[in-house]
Amino acid sequence: MRQVVMAYFGVQHASAEPPAVVTTALARLASTAGGSSRERAHYVDEAGYHTTLEIRYWTDPAEFSSWLADNDFWTVGPANPEAGFFLEVVRPPIQRFETLFSNDRVEGVAVAADRLSGEIQEHGYWGGARDRIPLAQSDTLAPTGAVSAGFSGDLVTIVPNGNLCLIRSGQEWTETDGDERRMYLEEVEPVLRAGMDFLRDDGLPVGCYANRYVRVLAADGNETDKSFGLSWWRGLEDLETWAESHPTHVAIFRAALKYLSTMGPAARLRLYHEVTVAEPTETRFEYLGCHKGTGLLRAL
Ligand code: HEM
Repeated sequence: MRQVVMAYFGVQHASAEPPAVVTTALARLASTAGGSSRERAHYVDEAGYHTTLEIRYWTDPAEFSSWLADNDFWTVGPANPEAGFFLEVVRPPIQRFETLFSNDRVEGVAVAADRLSGEIQEHGYWGGARDRIPLAQSDTLAPTGAVSAGFSGDLVTIVPNGNLCLIRSGQEWTETDGDERRMYLEEVEPVLRAGMDFLRDDGLPVGCYANRYVRVLAADGNETDKSFGLSWWRGLEDLETWAESHPTHVAIFRAALKYLSTMGPAARLRLYHEVTVAEPTETRFEYLGCHKGTGLLRAL
């Protein structure tokens, strides 16, 4: 495995119930096999739009390209007045991402891996995420250039700055119960939500282009006890600075430490994250009929 594909298919609508165009598109996507794993998630964005994401991973970019050539219906115009569609893709070589788990249940890109490594040394200190990205050993991964846009009919295409950064940071509380569940839902989750709201609404000045705090959906469309923060950043350093020093992540970190020290090894909360730093040629961002605060449109 040399390079992976992380693809986010999004559809948004202002109405509470999904219009027919949305259910039809999601059903069509569901019936189209492809990729090594797929999941669905939902969130309501800063403009109040319901958004459904389908996330797929491929371990071979050539396979993804040929799949997309056969299934390019997602962001084909014309735009529909009832729904906006977007596609956000990064194709990082394996030297450009890392993923970390507090336990042995794999999520995200790790589903495609044969196995997990054992415990690693590069965690438990600020700067650990950078140390886990192989290319960071010889490259500062600093952002370069600017974000630009292309317009073709109703479709807006974004080309990001160099070394754009993506984080997917997940939580699962399925197996928690009693005091542990109460403590997560009442003491940790609200602090996490406040941090996610901050990044969503006020993230731009700290380098966060877009943030979504999403709930993973089961096959029947119901919410599971899994969530993740998904955010696009100008660069890794902006993300590191927020994590290390901004009151919102410091508060998340402290709430988690209190929780983990109370629960000890019996804690059943599961945490993981994946951090990617990608070059513009390794990305694809397309927005069809989306409101102007959607995803990387905010970076313009
Ligand atoms: C309940 C949710 C969360 C908890 C309990 C949590 C806790 C932590 C902990 C304990 C670390 C240190 C990890 C290590 O290297 O050993 C960490 C690092 C980090 N967290 Fe969070 N976090 C949460 C959510 C998030 C979210 C949603 C984001 C961003 C969207 C985020 C961004 C980061 C980043 C970038 C680092 C690495 C910083 C570095 O290596 O310098 N975290 N977090």
